[in-house]
Amino acid sequence: MNKSVLMVGSGAYLPEKILTNDDLATFVDTDDGWIKQRTGIAQRHIVADGELTSDLAYNAAINALENANMTADDIDVIVLATTTPDDTFPATAAQVQNRLGAYNAFAFDVQAVCAGFVYALTVAESLLLANKGRRALVIGAESFSKLLDWEDRTTCVLFGDGAGAVILEASDDAQNYGILSSALYTDGRHRDILYVDGGPSKTGSVGHVRMKGQDVFRHAVEKLASSMYAVIEQAGVSETEIDWLIPHQANLRIIDGMQKKLGLPADRVVRTVSEHANTSAASIPLALNQAVSDGRVKSGHLLAFEAIGGGLSWGAALVRYGRP
Ligand code: UT7
Repeated sequence: MNKSVLMVGSGAYLPEKILTNDDLATFVDTDDGWIKQRTGIAQRHIVADGELTSDLAYNAAINALENANMTADDIDVIVLATTTPDDTFPATAAQVQNRLGAYNAFAFDVQAVCAGFVYALTVAESLLLANKGRRALVIGAESFSKLLDWEDRTTCVLFGDGAGAVILEASDDAQNYGILSSALYTDGRHRDILYVDGGPSKTGSVGHVRMKGQDVFRHAVEKLASSMYAVIEQAGVSETEIDWLIPHQANLRIIDGMQKKLGLPADRVVRTVSEHANTSAASIPLALNQAVSDGRVKSGHLLAFEAIGGGLSWGAALVRYGRP
């Protein structure tokens, strides 16, 4: 029998502090109308002083374990997608493993910026399929506010902080549940349209996000669509079978563009960009957990994930949620 990897639980955590568009307009030359009209964002959560990416990740992980009725001992692999680790090393995943007491698990970080969750999901799936463990905790966690130049209105209004997590479980009897297909892509030629102007080997400093928004927008629409078609074909399903599109939450116009391209009804898309802004690797699992918690996503639903970010790196995955 073929082994497959189920997605059996989700969790999330958002820092308490909220920064609205009006709050931003008190210290940067912007306004609520522009931000809402161009991006759909109304507010974002921001970490408190001393609150770290590992704190967000830990809280999301605890929430996911509770929702899946599991304990830290049940986890064999922890893959944490982040661009904003606590330290240059060790991996933030190792900090989370220690706080959880998940000492049966090996743990490491994955860095694919906004595509990080789709990358981490695929890496964890591959490890489970290769018998490196039975259950994986996959986390997307970001303190993206730490990378922002708060004087640059073209970027600082777009991002927020948070974490989401899912639990994967290998199964010999998945009955068409679980991760049905995934596809990952990178094109390093487009490095200069979205990057951070710092890093350990270049400047020794952390740096700030720099983005040519319109160029990224153009690539996003084209590349997200082609990666979605690739996973739809790989899984042998039709786009009309998708119950929920759960996209990376960067811009409402990109999200709605994808919904129309796929021919999905507008109410089959999970949108959290208004409340969370762009939380990079955390945005998909945050959106997923919101839709699971409020009862929209149910066991057996076909979910479509897609994301693009710095690299450029992008990808998509199709998952039938829950257990057969
Ligand atoms: O997760 C990683 C992936 N990232 C993305 O997917 C981002 C993709 N790109 C976008 O979402 C959009 O390009 C942005 C939201 C970043 C920008 O929207 P846009 O419609 O492409 O605006 P623009 O960059 O063409 O700027 C239009 C105008 C400019 O003024 P002028 O030159 O026309 O006078 C900007 O200076 O809006 C101005 N502007 C602002 N005005 C008020 C730029 N940022 C702001 C701001 N508030 N925050």
